[in-house]
Amino acid sequence: MLACRPNSGLGDNYLRVSVIGCGHVGLVTGACLAAAGHQVVCTDTDAARIAMLTAGGVPVYEPHLGAVLRSARKARRVSFTTNPTEAIRAGEAIFVCVGTLTRENGETDFSAIDHLALQIAQEARSPKLVIEKSTVPTRAGAELRRGLFTYANSRANYFRVASNPEFMREGTAVSDFFHPDRILVGVEEQSAATDLHAIYSSILERRFACPIHAGNCPSTPEVEFVVTDIKEAELIKHASDSFLALKISYANVLADICEKIGADVDRVTRAMGLDPRIGAQFLKAGLGFGGFCFPNDVQAFIELSASVGIDFAILKAAERVNKERIDVCIDKLRRALPALKNKRVAVLGLAFKADTDDVRFAPALEVIKRLLEEGAKVRASDPEAMPRTKAKFPQVSYYSDPYEAMRGADAAIICTDWDLFKTLDWKHAGKLMARKLVIDGRNLNSHQAMQDSDFEYYSFGRGTTASRSPVENPVETPAPIEDPCDAVVTAKAI
Ligand code: UGA
Repeated sequence: MLACRPNSGLGDNYLRVSVIGCGHVGLVTGACLAAAGHQVVCTDTDAARIAMLTAGGVPVYEPHLGAVLRSARKARRVSFTTNPTEAIRAGEAIFVCVGTLTRENGETDFSAIDHLALQIAQEARSPKLVIEKSTVPTRAGAELRRGLFTYANSRANYFRVASNPEFMREGTAVSDFFHPDRILVGVEEQSAATDLHAIYSSILERRFACPIHAGNCPSTPEVEFVVTDIKEAELIKHASDSFLALKISYANVLADICEKIGADVDRVTRAMGLDPRIGAQFLKAGLGFGGFCFPNDVQAFIELSASVGIDFAILKAAERVNKERIDVCIDKLRRALPALKNKRVAVLGLAFKADTDDVRFAPALEVIKRLLEEGAKVRASDPEAMPRTKAKFPQVSYYSDPYEAMRGADAAIICTDWDLFKTLDWKHAGKLMARKLVIDGRNLNSHQAMQDSDFEYYSFGRGTTASRSPVENPVETPAPIEDPCDAVVTAKAI
């Protein structure tokens, strides 16, 4: 068992913790564990990322993370290094937050985990609790264990392995870390569970200075500390993410049915969600799920099931339904604009969801790809995700002001549920656009409001609002379209 040291700052005990991998999960974990009182060393192979962190920067957009890092730095509880040996030797507990990859054939590539096991086995000079935390497929814990024990030779008894799946969401990760629904640990021996309980004790017992609510945290049920074996913990993670993805696809098929029979999916899902057995969350219809987690987790769970002879057909269907959302969106656009060649289309929102700059598997990127394939001219806007998108689609014009993206556009497609897009002045936008046409991929606006602004408006599972005006905007001649190369990008660089 690890020995906690008294911590004068919080009247609590602290441990020396290392975090390997400074991606979203690793960085939030490291910063929040430091804020919870532990002494944390974070490492990553990306030298530019570590340089930025060392200089006081934050390489990802995540609300509250900057403030948490600032106070952890000030209290000298967190440091960053590109040297993995330094991190491995510093931590009594090592959180592994490196991603696993999925190969073209759907199989999981464990080479990053294997490499890390080799490094930890070679460099450790004292006993370590090695905790697998990143979004991983089942078997990652076993692979880590196999690697550590193979490479450690006579020092194998230095290592204990545990799994501690993460349930935080991008955009609310800091809040989710401090106010979790549950803390799940998969262990091989009781001592590992006891150590993990010690690591999370201030959160479990609510003895931390909350960086979000400043002494005024909402009252929530007691956090359950769930202890299972490693494979069950990994399965719980897969099953939870996949179930939520399933729920979203269910709502999306429901939306298709609503459109056919003239019902409103928002009213239907709202009433469904009042049943606590169903719950209101993750029933929002629209462009479907993206991000690094759901698409990968669903695919990995299908593959894992197949490897043990189970055909996870409903999950395959959820994945197919999700991919079809892009077709549904483009079909809606084509209904109003049959030929997309040379049409100017504003794409509002690039991130896979609000409050993040993450564009991995973002539905917006698929929409852009399809629009470009059809010869449309894309004008995009997003509060945080433009630099990352620009690297993938340099031919798109980018505008930090969404109204500029809509200037002269023949249509606008809302792809991300940013608050900014819920409060747009559509009357003003209508004066700028060549045609008042909106495809709302996140059902952010009401038909009434769009009708009041005289827009032709398509959403998902809620019918269509026709424009009362002639197709072309008679009010203002659209401004000339700039060359994409001259596009203004004022969002902050990554
Ligand atoms: C998800 C899970 O919610 C977390 O619990 C988990 O820890 C994380 O994956 C992970 O495995 O690391 P995240 O991907 O950050 O978190 O975002 P979500 O809020 O779950 O949204 C995922 C996608 O589903 C987004 O594209 C979102 O727009 C979409 N979504 C969500 C819908 O289309 N409809 C909904 O009703 C809810």
